[in-house]
Amino acid sequence: MDFELHMIFCPDSTSSLVSPSINTHQSAVINPLKLGILASGSGSNFEAVAQAIEDKQLNAQIQVLIYNNPSAKAANRAANRGIETVLLNHRKYKNRESLDQEIVNTLRRYDVDWVILAGWMRVVTSVFIDAFPNRIINIHPSLLPSFKGIHAVEQALQAGVKITGCTVHLVCLEVDSGEILIQAAVPILPDDTAETLHARIQVQEHKILPQAIALAAHKQSKPLLVSNS
Ligand code: GRF
Repeated sequence: MDFELHMIFCPDSTSSLVSPSINTHQSAVINPLKLGILASGSGSNFEAVAQAIEDKQLNAQIQVLIYNNPSAKAANRAANRGIETVLLNHRKYKNRESLDQEIVNTLRRYDVDWVILAGWMRVVTSVFIDAFPNRIINIHPSLLPSFKGIHAVEQALQAGVKITGCTVHLVCLEVDSGEILIQAAVPILPDDTAETLHARIQVQEHKILPQAIALAAHKQSKPLLVSNS
């Protein structure tokens, strides 16, 4: 019995179940996807997408990084890679809709066709969603539909679940809802803190976000089925 428990709770375990498991090379579309990325914080997911593009695992180009928080490290990461950045500070807009309208205008100016919310800590409105129907992708640090909203990692720890993870999904009006593209499961270890658990979740986030972008584009590029009847 001890032996079995030891096997299950291997403290160095970073193994994870990812579903669906896809090969991004197989789902590459002919023209590079033109991405606009929105980030509020550290930007490690932005970096993962940029790296997947550089490594030719994702056929895309990042047209612009939009950030709302003047101290967001994501902006430095973009600048280091020579990617254009635009600061849209939410405090300078009278409501969510006016911020979102400026985001849409900026994304259009940069000729973006897919929008990636990579740690974008703002609730989005219909102004934004209607401008890019089924073309806004979000990453969330839980296995949705569990633990929506902020502090998803802490919520999972408090609930005492033994497995959590991350989800990449299409964005709709309801927060952290919308069609799920890919999920990765991450075991919760006995000594986990929010920081250690989030760090392991992020390892998986960085893998599945580029894959999910390719998958979403692949799904939408499929020709519509035509009925002969
Ligand atoms: C990620 O954990 C993501 O799931 C959540 O915000 C975090 C952003 O991290 N929405 P980073 O800024 O990409 O490092």
